[in-house]
Amino acid sequence: MGTLTKLALGLMGQLHARPALAEGAPTLKLPAPRRRAGLPLMEALWRRGSQREFDPRALRKAELAELLWAAAGVNRPELGGRTAPSAMNSQEVQLYVALPQGLYLYDPAAHLLRQALASDVRRVTGYQDFVDTAPLDLLYVADHARMSLVPAAQRAAYAYAAAGAMAQNVYLYCASAGLATVLRAWFDRAALERAMGLGPDQQVLLAQTVGAPAAAPAAAPAAE
Ligand SMILES: Cc1cc2nc3c(=O)[nH]c(=O)nc-3n(C[C@H](O)[C@H](O)[C@H](O)COP(=O)(O)O)c2cc1C
Repeated sequence: MGTLTKLALGLMGQLHARPALAEGAPTLKLPAPRRRAGLPLMEALWRRGSQREFDPRALRKAELAELLWAAAGVNRPELGGRTAPSAMNSQEVQLYVALPQGLYLYDPAAHLLRQALASDVRRVTGYQDFVDTAPLDLLYVADHARMSLVPAAQRAAYAYAAAGAMAQNVYLYCASAGLATVLRAWFDRAALERAMGLGPDQQVLLAQTVGAPAAAPAAAPAAE
């Protein structure tokens, strides 16, 4: 769906999710992330960048697992510590994944995905058209109920900071794994929160599209 159509539907309050394209499992088990793999950190930093053209193929299970772990995974099980920081370790940013077969919530402790909705919400995750067909859109959602220790005036700022750290982990993982990604804030918040069925304490902060980079067009035959 094109950007102008989304803007018009959004103004009319008519930007909605589609039914899931296939039946999604209630839970998706994920393989453990590898420890010694990927590019050296410095090389990944050299390659980090935003890309906006995606191949629609689904990510491999191992790629999906490592992507989610990079964003929100438990890296110090004895403490329940995560790969990204959060103010007072509130761990208030929930990671949703919009897939063609449904909307899923990442459970960091169990390292698996749980289906939240049997709808394809990808097209509601942003005004740009590539979000509809890229294989997945991540959604960073603040759960304000987890921030009781943070002064009320600071909660949104702290949650955005935590989501930004998670998103940069995703950028670096994608750079290392040869995947394309772009962090996004241009979406219809009301439509998305409605489509995701979020509760009163939940707030969508940012979205991030991930997929294999679109194949480069075949080069034109060289002129004789
Ligand atoms: C908070 C934030 C919001 C952004 N929102 C969008 C967006 O809605 N759509 C988009 O295409 N890019 C978005 N971007 C990506 C920026 O356009 C991109 O990071 C910037 O152009 C620099 O390019 P680089 O990431 O390749 O260095 C956003 C980036 C940030 C940090």
